[in-house]
Amino acid sequence: MVSYVVTGSNRGIGFAFVQKLSANPQNIVFALTRNKANSADLLELQSKLQNVHVLQADITDILALQDVAKEIEEVTGGTLDVLINNGAHLSPERDDYTLDAYDGKEDLLEKDFIDFFKVNTLGVIKTINVFLPLLRNASQKCLAKVITISAPAAEIDFNLKTGLSFWAPYAVSKAGVNMVTAKYAARFKDDNLVFLSLSPGPVNTLGDAPKEVQETAYGPLIEIFRSGYPEWDGEFLRPERSVSLMLDVISKITARDNGAFVSQYGNQRWL
Ligand SMILES: NC(=O)c1ccc[n+]([C@@H]2O[C@H](COP(=O)([O-])OP(=O)(O)OC[C@H]3O[C@@H](n4cnc5c(N)ncnc54)[C@H](OP(=O)(O)O)[C@@H]3O)[C@@H](O)[C@H]2O)c1
Repeated sequence: MVSYVVTGSNRGIGFAFVQKLSANPQNIVFALTRNKANSADLLELQSKLQNVHVLQADITDILALQDVAKEIEEVTGGTLDVLINNGAHLSPERDDYTLDAYDGKEDLLEKDFIDFFKVNTLGVIKTINVFLPLLRNASQKCLAKVITISAPAAEIDFNLKTGLSFWAPYAVSKAGVNMVTAKYAARFKDDNLVFLSLSPGPVNTLGDAPKEVQETAYGPLIEIFRSGYPEWDGEFLRPERSVSLMLDVISKITARDNGAFVSQYGNQRWL
């Protein structure tokens, strides 16, 4: 059995990870959600499949994370093979603000940066620290993996090419978490443990929403992204497709990839 923890797994890309991983009976999937009451699809999957365990933890809450780690330890006998840090704060509030738009609104500047940083950067560190003992036990037998889902917006060249000047607190929190990956990689470079930041690409998580809603959400982004990457076909990936590509990358990671930031294609092609 290969054991996986996926955070932020009740919807979007996280849910697609759980669906895809649990389809293989050789996997055991610990699906973390911050609120079971908002996790109907996940609970339904758990009711159908023996290899899905739904556990509740907000990744900013160290006590909840510790409780969940204890539960997982009991099931796996003290090991964890793959941690996927997927959960993230993605608030649409002020997501059109450029940094200079915060001038005179320093209270909002601090609020937004702290809100994004707390979940997307510090929450990931808390999660990794809580699961490290289990991952290190697994790494005695095989390469244990810590995958942190990042974003093209965290890559400097992507921002410069597309002129993506908004989403600043989000992008900074994700650029921060790329450095978190590098720091852990440096810390554990001699262990059988690999850390990777992985971008899912542009993903349409509004597949069930009316077409107009999807067009409003993604239309302007397609234009912006294409301005930097005219060769891109303008296609937002379905979560299942993005997850398939990412799982392929994850399956091929070696110790040489330790600390890197790559896309769903395993390289620096972000779209
Ligand atoms: N979609 C894209 O095009 C895209 C592009 C680049 C990168 N990404 C990255 O891919 C990952 C998944 O994105 P998505 O599009 O699937 O987002 P999403 O649909 O908004 O899902 C975000 C998930 O994170 C969870 N979450 C938020 N705050 C949390 C917290 N404090 N503790 C635990 N879980 C928390 C949410 O739970 P609730 O349901 O309880 O809110 C939800 O399950 C994120 O890391 C995101 O930055 C996505």
